[in-house]
Amino acid sequence: MKILGIETSCDDTSVALLDEHEGVLENLVSSQIDLHDHFGGVVPELASRAHLVNLLPLIDVLLTRRSLNLADIDGVAVTRGPGLIGALLVGLSTAKAICWAAGKPLAAVHHIEGHMLANELTAPMELPAAVLVVSGGHTEVILVREIGLYERLGWTLDDAAGECYDKCAQFMGLPYPGGPAVDRVAEGGDPGRFTFPRPLHKDPRVIFSFSGLKTAVRLEVERLPRPLSEQDVADVCHALREAVTDVLTRRLFQAAQEQGVRAVYLAGGVAANSLLRTRTAELATKRGLHFVAPDRAYCTDNAAMIAQAGLCRFRVGYRDDLSVDSFARQPVTSWLPLP
Ligand code: KG4
Ligand code: ZN
Repeated sequence: MKILGIETSCDDTSVALLDEHEGVLENLVSSQIDLHDHFGGVVPELASRAHLVNLLPLIDVLLTRRSLNLADIDGVAVTRGPGLIGALLVGLSTAKAICWAAGKPLAAVHHIEGHMLANELTAPMELPAAVLVVSGGHTEVILVREIGLYERLGWTLDDAAGECYDKCAQFMGLPYPGGPAVDRVAEGGDPGRFTFPRPLHKDPRVIFSFSGLKTAVRLEVERLPRPLSEQDVADVCHALREAVTDVLTRRLFQAAQEQGVRAVYLAGGVAANSLLRTRTAELATKRGLHFVAPDRAYCTDNAAMIAQAGLCRFRVGYRDDLSVDSFARQPVTSWLPLP
């Protein structure tokens, strides 16, 4: 089976081709970072227009590279939501048009499910598992009982972890998106200079909050003499990364223990973070839990993870109707019937 994946939920136009046996054959990402950089964040209308311009040529490139045409594809998987509604509609309408014209089945995938199933691109996941989904828009822990059966165990009360990294990076004049920059710069930081709060530390629930941490970083940065030295920025980044990683791993392992699962996974853009990956690996080893970090290329938004989610559905005969709609917000939902 060969699946065409399409992802246009935010500011990356991505198309992928996944073969059931050979894995990812192509994963093309056309980034819009330069387009939005000037505005300090993603401008929804510009994102939709850029997807419109880029998507069909990208699909053409993908098929040409592989000397394939639409008749050689066995199904189309596309991100349905959550995300920017105009941006999502470009991908969803294109996927529907291809399915209708070429007579192929459609899988309309929840973006978070795609992020989680990026782990399947490395090796079959050990389930049930607790999955920490951490991106620019989401921070949640999800119990994956099996593929298609999900339960949200906890989430953030305010900002997402990636959003916290992006905003804090902005205070320090680091480039957008800030997560990769903070991760890189933190390596040279002095571990003893700053300590930031661990929000909701005493709360017994699997729950997150990052707005207080963001404010603590802003106040600390404002106290520093201008212009900020490279060492100042590195020291703040080091402490920020420690605080974020500490709260994320604590809740992931708490959820794993409460649910009695034997495996944990990371998903989403922040799963590319070096400290989060090594700390999770260390803690998993200590607790005797299974953990394999996802391929960094499939942590941030990409169509290969959407194609993988589509493949999982098509394998069991699940397909969506062409009347399916997109949504801006909605928690991840199960598509398998409950046992
Ligand atoms: O999953 P993603 O590409 O898009 C959303 O669905 O939001 O995640 C993007 C987020 C951004 O906030 C970015 O700063 C963060 O992932 N990110 C990182 C790293 N790489 C990307 N955060 C921390 N460390 C990284 N290495
Ligand atoms: Zn994402």
